Amino acid sequence: MKRPIAYIAGTGRGIPARVMTNHDFAALGIDTSHEWIVERTGIMERRIASDSESTCSMAADAARTAMARAGVAPGEIDAIVMSTATPDRLLPSTAVDLQAELGATRAAAFDVSAACTGWIYGMTVAEGLMHSGVIQTALVVGAEKMSSIVDWQDRSTCILFGDGAGAVVLKRNKSQATKGILSTFIRSDGTLAELLWRPSGGAKHPFSQDVLDDRSSYVRMAGRETFRHAVRSMSEACERALDGAKLRADDIDILIPHQANIRIIESTAKYANVPMEKVFVNVDRYGNTSSASIPIALDEAVESGRVKEGTTALLVAFGAGFTWGSMVVRF
Ligand code: COA
Repeated sequence: MKRPIAYIAGTGRGIPARVMTNHDFAALGIDTSHEWIVERTGIMERRIASDSESTCSMAADAARTAMARAGVAPGEIDAIVMSTATPDRLLPSTAVDLQAELGATRAAAFDVSAACTGWIYGMTVAEGLMHSGVIQTALVVGAEKMSSIVDWQDRSTCILFGDGAGAVVLKRNKSQATKGILSTFIRSDGTLAELLWRPSGGAKHPFSQDVLDDRSSYVRMAGRETFRHAVRSMSEACERALDGAKLRADDIDILIPHQANIRIIESTAKYANVPMEKVFVNVDRYGNTSSASIPIALDEAVESGRVKEGTTALLVAFGAGFTWGSMVVRF
């Protein structure tokens, strides 16, 4: 096991107040039912941002809590690594808006695009910058306003997603420390990009009346294929992170998987040989918040005492790209 370079010094989340239950889809004319959604996904409700809430504002809420808990002032942040699939605007990055909002004047700020795996990618990048000595303190945020990119006429996708943000302060360890990130693993397969994507609205097919008419700027997904790849890839990622940390499944106190679907979570836990009692689940209350899902779950796990000093956690994610990744963290 390598000496951990970086440790998580504080966590936080930024969650919109508005709750949308499965029953609320009826009012939108969506042909679905609470029973169908719960049986297929485990989702009971999700949070939906108001018009005045943005990816940046949710990120700022999460970041302020994480910084307060870490005892870190905005001026001490060297880098803001923001993962989002829903930037507030396409140029510049949402990370620089967050920097301005927080007054983190010394930081280098940039977005990472790896969909639901984005926060794991962001953590890996931030840890790498610490390893090379470029930075000492980073804010790693996952923030998503998924309600702005889902097709509210497509019942197979709009029921799945929700809004929110999660953040951690990552700090460089002193030389003899034993807590922190013990291993990371990231991977992608771009040949599968069109199983979960937004066909238009970017540089190749910019917005036009046709794009608006055919709704091709919204998320499209091949549900069954995505499900199959998610289970396979997250299982592989669990194994890789455990190997990297020279640990076995038994050594893990808590598994915090990306919260996409309870059936994906259960299958992943089974393949990873982690009993469900050790798995953190909040997909029932938030749905899939993309790259915000793991840092939100981690923050709740810290707050409830399930993650405390000495806890060894396995974090694992999967998302569009496809991308997947994992890490083992000792607290
Ligand atoms: N309510 C009611 N029926 C619905 C529905 C909804 N919200 N969405 C789809 N259906 C219908 C379909 O139209 C289909 O009907 P048909 O058989 O008459 O054509 C039927 O349910 C089965 O559809 P299918 O897509 O095969 O269902 P499924 O069991 O695969 O469940 C998902 C659909 C989306 C819940 C499931 O595929 C899934 O969770 N995939 C992974 C999604 C995910 O997590 N993506 C993010 C990864 S980061």
